[in-house]
Amino acid sequence: MHQHMTKNNVSATRLVDQFSRTITYLRLSLTDRCNLRCLYCMPQEEIDRHDQVKTGRFLEHSELLSYEELLRVVRLAVSLGMNKLRLTGGEPLVRKGVLDFIQALFQIDGLSEVRLTTNGVLLEEYASRLFQAGVRQLNVSLDTLEEEKFARITGRSYFDKVWRGLFAAKELGFKIKINVVAMRGINDDEFLDFGRLALREPFQVRFIEFMPVGEKSSWDRQHFIGSDEIMERIASLGTLTPFKKRHGEGPARMFELSAPDGQRGAVGFISPISHHFCDQCNRLRLTSEGRLRACLLNDRETDLKRLLRGGASDEELVAEIRQTILDKPQGHSLNTAVVRQPCSGQMSRIGG
Ligand code: GTP
Ligand code: 5AD
Ligand code: SF4
Repeated sequence: MHQHMTKNNVSATRLVDQFSRTITYLRLSLTDRCNLRCLYCMPQEEIDRHDQVKTGRFLEHSELLSYEELLRVVRLAVSLGMNKLRLTGGEPLVRKGVLDFIQALFQIDGLSEVRLTTNGVLLEEYASRLFQAGVRQLNVSLDTLEEEKFARITGRSYFDKVWRGLFAAKELGFKIKINVVAMRGINDDEFLDFGRLALREPFQVRFIEFMPVGEKSSWDRQHFIGSDEIMERIASLGTLTPFKKRHGEGPARMFELSAPDGQRGAVGFISPISHHFCDQCNRLRLTSEGRLRACLLNDRETDLKRLLRGGASDEELVAEIRQTILDKPQGHSLNTAVVRQPCSGQMSRIGG
């Protein structure tokens, strides 16, 4: 085991869980608020309630960890060997002061990357400042290329905005992945268009299997479509050759798509249901309520906020982080014959 003293004087060993997975990747949900209302992210009645009562069911500002608290947690996590950070939401760019926060993150020694998952609505406005701050990788959620359908899926008519943001970010030199949640009967008629987009543009297009997350999730079997079927359809555009995968690279299975006319692109499949990847999971999540969550699909959480606000020392926080990792579930069992009760955590608070 690697022992060393960190800046915080906390004795560190690598973070390894009981199934020998090394945890190196922290996902922070900065807020549960969002400027879209995607049908799979919040249940419809929840969406209506949010829209009627302006602040209604969103977390109060004081319920979120402050940037100071977040920085403290990240410093400790980095001192324990975590080196990648992803900011999620809700929509991370709607939280005030996010750019200063990102700049402060880049001052942390040992943190090699800060990535962002965004819906793209504010990208046009923020892309250049994000780039200046040091961010180089963006994952943009975009489930349709049709303006009207975009409004139906997300509840807002922002397709053009997202599209402009996407290209503004491309021009600046960001590495961009597009996340497409695959939903039968909703966007499966567009998979080939997304494949063509990958051929035409330097975007990695990744199709994600729709997961049953959230208590009253809009997930149902009819809307589910597995990666194998999507892949078969994409293969009609050209040859798919798997990328070599490096350890800890994340859940997507990536392929080069090569079309008969010589165009090439990158497409990927994230298949939590049909080919789960739990044995390689390197992630820990911090929800927007300040709870550590070791598995996206398991509701067990540790209330870090309570400790932070109760005056816990760095050593106590580190012990809690370690314990959460030790207790990280082996994986989920959603792909068993009977689809289990979806986990009840809400995507907009967990951050995907
Ligand atoms: P990079 O590898 O850094 O690009 O990150 P990512 O692909 O994990 O990040 P992103 O936020 O774009 O997530 C893409 C999709 O993968 C989302 O639907 C996530 O919910 C899903 N996902 C990411 N990590 C996990 C995981 O550990 N378990 C499961 N079940 N799904 C995950
Ligand atoms: N199943 C699969 N992916 C989802 N995302 C949000 N909810 C779901 C779900 N139920 C995706 C978003 C975003 C990423 C963080 O998670 O589209 O790209
Ligand atoms: Fe990791 Fe849990 Fe996702 Fe499996 S389901 S890959 S253990 S977060």
